[in-house]
This record gives sequence, structure tokens and C-alpha cells, in this order.
Amino acid sequence: TLNGLFLLVAYLLGSLPSGYWAGRLVKGFDIREQGSGSTGATNVLRTVGQLPALIVLLVDILKGSAAIALFHWLYASELVQPWVPNTVDPAVWLPWMVTLAGMLALLGHSKSLFLNFTGGKSVATSLGVLLALNWIVGLGTLAVFLAVLGITRIVSISSIMGAIATSGLMVATNQPVPYLLFSIAGGIYVIWRHRTNIQRLMAGTEPQLGQTLPEVT
Ligand code: G3P
Repeated sequence: TLNGLFLLVAYLLGSLPSGYWAGRLVKGFDIREQGSGSTGATNVLRTVGQLPALIVLLVDILKGSAAIALFHWLYASELVQPWVPNTVDPAVWLPWMVTLAGMLALLGHSKSLFLNFTGGKSVATSLGVLLALNWIVGLGTLAVFLAVLGITRIVSISSIMGAIATSGLMVATNQPVPYLLFSIAGGIYVIWRHRTNIQRLMAGTEPQLGQTLPEVT
């Protein structure tokens, strides 16, 4: 059905490999063979350059926000009918559908259709989803991320702390159940994507901003 088709579009949006393109266009290399091997903005900053990293960061945030905005627009325009009977209040199903779209955008970023199901760690795309779900939770998560980054100068630990804080922010601001589930499932997923970073953090070898990584891990 059309719902399924647009969920596929959400996954494809997330799949857009902006970091990979940055590596190819600016340096002519495959960024998955550089630095941490991730296609995220942090690795673009590390291996490609500041401006490309900023652009990749913004594009990756937008991918997440766009997936949510697309679903809000689809149902508001009544172009697509959801998988529920007409009698069910949109306030009940809409949060579930946009949350599903957000999860698929997340998945697309780290398991991109265009990169043989590889990609980044879905941090920027999660932020884009969160900002579009509820901007207070989005900005709160960003504040936690920036605070930890300011103290540690390490992006991965900041991302992990942000991923943990999001669920608390969802509860504190009384968000719908599917949003809370997104923060829990998305948070676990983002942390799981950081498992090589966690190993490096425990070994004391995780680079701070501006430091390089000796080899691809
Ligand atoms: O956004 C991903 C960040 O948390 C870590 O990236 O390249 O240092 O593994 P990286």
C-alpha cells in the first residue's frame, strides 16, 4: 500500500550517503576505509574537512526531520490513509506512523541501500527525527550532547550520553508512548552502533576532536 511505499521513502531518505559523497567528491576516497570507517559527520571532519563535515551534519539532520515532516504532510493532506479504520482518532495513530518513519530513517543512515547496508552511527539523523517529533526534546538532547562534548572533547561519548538522556527527556515532557519507544529503541540502536568506540573508550584510545585515528577499526 501507499503507507508501505512512503515508509520505504523514509528509509531511502535516511540512506542518502552524504558522508560517503563528501569523501568521494572532495578527496576521491571511500570514507569507509578512512578514520573510524563511519560515514558520519565526525569522521568527515576527521578525514575530509570542516566545511564538508558541517554540510554532512546538516544534511543528515535534515534527512531525519524530512522523514517525519513527510509523514505529517501525507496524513494532513489526506493523500494517504493509514492502516487503521477511519473511526480511530488520528491523535492515536499519527505518532505511531511518524515514529516508524523515524526509525526507518535511522536504519537507512547506518544501513544504507546505496552503500551495501553500511553507513554511519545515526546520531545526526536521530537528532533530526527528535527535533521534528518534539523540538524541546530535540534541543534538550543536543544540549546534553554539547555539554558532554565541551567537557570531554570526544564525540562518541557525547553521542552515547545524548542517546541515554533522550528517554528521560521524553518522560519529563510527557511525550506520546511511541515517541518514548523511539527514544528507547533508537537510543539502544545508536549505542550499539558505537561498540567499537566503546572498546576504544575503555582502552583509552578514543580520539578527541582534532586527533586522528591510526587505523580503520
Ligand atoms: O556521530 C558518530 C560519533 O558519535 C562517533 O563517530 O567517527 O568517531 O566513530 P566516530
